[in-house]
Formats: sequence, C-alpha cells, structure tokens
Amino acid sequence: ETMYQRFLREHVDSTGTGGNSSYCKKMMQEREMTRPRCKRFNTFIHEDIGTIKNICKTPQIPCKNGKMNCHEGEVRVTDCRLTARFRGNCRYQGRGSSRRVVIACQGKLPVHFDNYL
Ligand SMILES: *[C@@H]1O[C@H](CO)[C@@H](O)[C@H](O)[C@H]1NC(C)=O
Repeated sequence: ETMYQRFLREHVDSTGTGGNSSYCKKMMQEREMTRPRCKRFNTFIHEDIGTIKNICKTPQIPCKNGKMNCHEGEVRVTDCRLTARFRGNCRYQGRGSSRRVVIACQGKLPVHFDNYL
C-alpha cells in the first residue's frame, strides 16, 4: 500500500455523505482502522478525488511536524471520534460538517491528513 493508497483508504469517501455515528462504526471497520486497535480519531472527506488533489495546488503551509508540504482547503467531512472500546468493538461518535482541513502532499498526491480536531 502506498501512502496515497493509504490516504484514500483512511480519508476519502467521495460518494458517501456520512455525518453520524453509525456511519463511523461501519466505515472504520470497512476501511480497516479498528484492528489491531481502535484508531482514536479519523476524518472522512466527502469530495471527489479531483477536488482533494486540487488542494495540493494551493500555497504551501507548515505541517504539524514543521515540514512545508501541507496545504489547506474547505471540504465536507465526517469526523469520527472513539468513545468506547470493548473486546475489540470500537464505538465512535460521528459528526458531519464543512470545515478547513490540512493535508500533506507529495508531488501532486495527498499522502497524509494533518489536522485532527
Ligand atoms: C447515518 O448516515 C447514513 C449515511 O450517511 C444514513 O444512511 C443513515 O440513515 C444515517 N443513520 C441515522 C441513524 O441517522
């Protein structure tokens, strides 16, 4: 799996609208973020990949790690936050919104989601 493929798996659901907790529970499982551990926080972006790639063309801004390969844009998202775990069962609170996100890009491809709420 390349970093781009991983970004797509973890953060892109172009056709979905998301927005609630059952969406998060289902998608966190389907996209393999509940094994071996429940990922604590994850964001799904509900925009087509062209829109997301276009964010990589905006001016560079610093990432959290200080590198300068981050970019920002406003997109529709569902933020999934872990609320409980029990015997490998991960429970999430899901919330949909349109918000500013920061992503790291390599070349023209998004490879990392930088801003968790
Ligand atoms: C949660 O969202 C999904 C897809 O966005 C939708 O199909 C479903 O009806 C919603 N469920 C609830 C309980 O609102």
